[in-house]
Amino acid sequence: MKLHLFGNHSPDGQTEIIVPTGYRSVQRWHPHLGDIFPDFTAQSSIGKIDFHNWAEGHWVYLFSHPAAFTPVCSTELADVASRKEDLAARNVRAITLSRDRLEDQAIWAEDLAELFGHPIDFPLVSDPEGVIAGVCGMVHPHEDALLTVRKAFIIDPALRIRMIIEYPMSIGRDIEEVLRVIDALQATDAENLAAPAGWMPGDPLLVRAATSDDEARTRFGDRLLMLRRYLRMVRPRPKQ
Ligand code: BEZ
Repeated sequence: MKLHLFGNHSPDGQTEIIVPTGYRSVQRWHPHLGDIFPDFTAQSSIGKIDFHNWAEGHWVYLFSHPAAFTPVCSTELADVASRKEDLAARNVRAITLSRDRLEDQAIWAEDLAELFGHPIDFPLVSDPEGVIAGVCGMVHPHEDALLTVRKAFIIDPALRIRMIIEYPMSIGRDIEEVLRVIDALQATDAENLAAPAGWMPGDPLLVRAATSDDEARTRFGDRLLMLRRYLRMVRPRPKQ
């Protein structure tokens, strides 16, 4: 079999990536970190939703899932519903999207509430034609031709995309990890810091690479711990 490939290489020819030509596509927008999430209008379980109006000023956890009345999706929606207070405490609004009809989503949500004991009171967006899903890269043809994959965005109060994840159809996401990333984003935004691997609230944060040592000493004083020139930790603020 002859593969037709295209690719990209560094000017010195030392680094090269080859991609099957079948993956070539007409350039179109793909959601990237830092982009403003597109505005959309759609029918949802709370009525017509104008996304920017609804989202602005809040952190948003927007997640697509493949379909109503399916096993993994059922556990994911129940998982998010069970953390209603934790989301509210962080000023986070959850919203989910699938290509199901509104009527089916409503019956399913009622059933999930009965089964898991948590009302599904965040919006379920119905996108039966895949209009939003297509633009936001939620349909991956090699995974499924029509259904939306488990894609998720964390969007900040200024409507910028701050995290993007994609999970396989067969693996459920973990709301605990979503809350951890939101905590980390809020903590690092507050002091222009970064969060290390596995960071949890109360753990030290990291000075960003672009910050000079002088600036770090001035800003963080005895909270600063210089491990290496490239690895500088900042202890949490003492509790008042
Ligand atoms: C699920 O939620 O279990 C599921 C939905 C669609 C395709 C595969 C799995």
